[in-house]
Amino acid sequence: PANPSAAPPRLPFSRVTQEDLSFFRALLPGRTITDPDLLKSSNVDWLKTVQGSSDVLLRPKTTEGVSQILRYCNERNLAVCPQGGNTGLVGGSVPVFDEIILSTSLMNQVFAFDNISGILTCQAGCVLENLSHYLEERDFIMPLDLGAKGSCHIGGNVSTNAGGLRLLRYGSLRGTVLGLEVVLADGHVLNCLATLRKDNTGYDLKQLFIGSEGTLGVITAVSILCPRKPKAVNVAFLGCSSFQQLLETFQCCRGMLGEILSAFEFLDASCMNLLEKHLKLTNPITECPFYIVIETAGSNATHDEEKLHQFLEEVMTSSLVTDGTVATEATKIKALWSLRERVTEALTHEGYTYKYDISLPVEKIYDLVQDMRRHLGGMAKNVVGYGHVGDGNLHLNITSPSKDFDLLAAIEPYVYEWTSQWKGSISAEHGLGLKKRNYIYYSKPSEAVALMGSIKAMLDPKGILNPYKTLPDNIN
Ligand code: FAD
Ligand code: MLT
Ligand code: ZN
Repeated sequence: PANPSAAPPRLPFSRVTQEDLSFFRALLPGRTITDPDLLKSSNVDWLKTVQGSSDVLLRPKTTEGVSQILRYCNERNLAVCPQGGNTGLVGGSVPVFDEIILSTSLMNQVFAFDNISGILTCQAGCVLENLSHYLEERDFIMPLDLGAKGSCHIGGNVSTNAGGLRLLRYGSLRGTVLGLEVVLADGHVLNCLATLRKDNTGYDLKQLFIGSEGTLGVITAVSILCPRKPKAVNVAFLGCSSFQQLLETFQCCRGMLGEILSAFEFLDASCMNLLEKHLKLTNPITECPFYIVIETAGSNATHDEEKLHQFLEEVMTSSLVTDGTVATEATKIKALWSLRERVTEALTHEGYTYKYDISLPVEKIYDLVQDMRRHLGGMAKNVVGYGHVGDGNLHLNITSPSKDFDLLAAIEPYVYEWTSQWKGSISAEHGLGLKKRNYIYYSKPSEAVALMGSIKAMLDPKGILNPYKTLPDNIN
């Protein structure tokens, strides 16, 4: 297609027949959904930009159920779209045509938690926030946190290798996920659900499934290493008058807060305007071009507060920071975090959002936003920047009142060329899904993409698992 983000033609998969429905109904009585009204929300993505037309939603409760579904679909050549909380931002979690939706929403059991090792083992459909609550009652926390926590599933997090707000401190899921149980395309169950921190017995197969966006297998269970709940948490919300000052604040913060730093996030003034306009949130400090959210998490409140105050004094007296406020109490902490976490939601009120999730050398991240503003001139309604400074991950978002192909043509491939020129990644944490699959070559050499294609062909020879996603339409 002329637009590389658009859907390719439907591949020659079988279509669901009455006989297929009878099989599914016998296997999943009451959990084979065909009512068009009930299917609506599963056919459209969170951003409401990708719309499928599936007639069947399956809600298994067990690994055995998933295995039987896939064995049957593979034999019948029926395409399947695995779906967790459907909060993905790249059009990966919804069908493109009539793929069967396989939802993990009823796979929500915690199997075990070891409060000595901190290792949690659970089904893939557990909602991230529910897991967080479960762990907090036991004095632990999840190693990841993100704005979509109330809806996203741990299986979806692992399938996208979600980064989020705590990656700076606890690292990526590639380190914290210790084991996975996965059902392969032909229904075989791959049990790699280890609960060991160290295990060098051969290839680390679970890594293949982390970040593979449902194209290589369906994750049915996860074991994950969880940190202790910090005794003291502080959040500072600061303002800077330039991005250079924000970067210097980051450098200073790393040096002075060291081991207690758990997040360093930013949003620009345009994001703040949208939070105020659409969500009626209040800016707690004086207006400025850039805002920072810093979180500390440690084991000694007095020690942490002392460190934080020394740091704040330093950045204020050196005028790196123009204004700021600090919270130590849970409701105020939550309110400050909302200013960062709810930018995504605020943007949806502006119309159509073009989302870019870019890794770059950290000192370059805001140059892209400024350059894009110059490049687009008056074509876009908003060009905003926010993201995970600590991880060198920019979220560049561009809005227009409705989908605008001229605007899209002005943004892409310009944004990807820009990123590639600085050896960045065109998908830092959201994945490629449907929207970005054909841009993979901006970040990966063709040999690597070809090998990905071979792995896909080996694990899913008929290509039934999440077709049209992640890999480009034509592998060079
Ligand atoms: P879905 O959206 O349902 O699916 C995502 C992909 O994984 C799809 O390709 C799907 O086919 C596949 N999949 C889902 N479950 C399985 C499974 N069990 N087995 C195999 N494949 C599966 N992402 C970040 O990285 N960092 C953030 O800070 C962040 N914040 C967000 C904030 C908001 C408000 C929103 C809406 C999204 C945010 N995201 C963020 C996007 C992120 O990808 C998702 O929120 C989350 O990781 C996806 O989980 P999910 O259960 O909703 O998966
Ligand atoms: C975030 O960091 O807020 C998320 O990745 C969502 C987004 O990019 O909008
Ligand atoms: Zn993010």
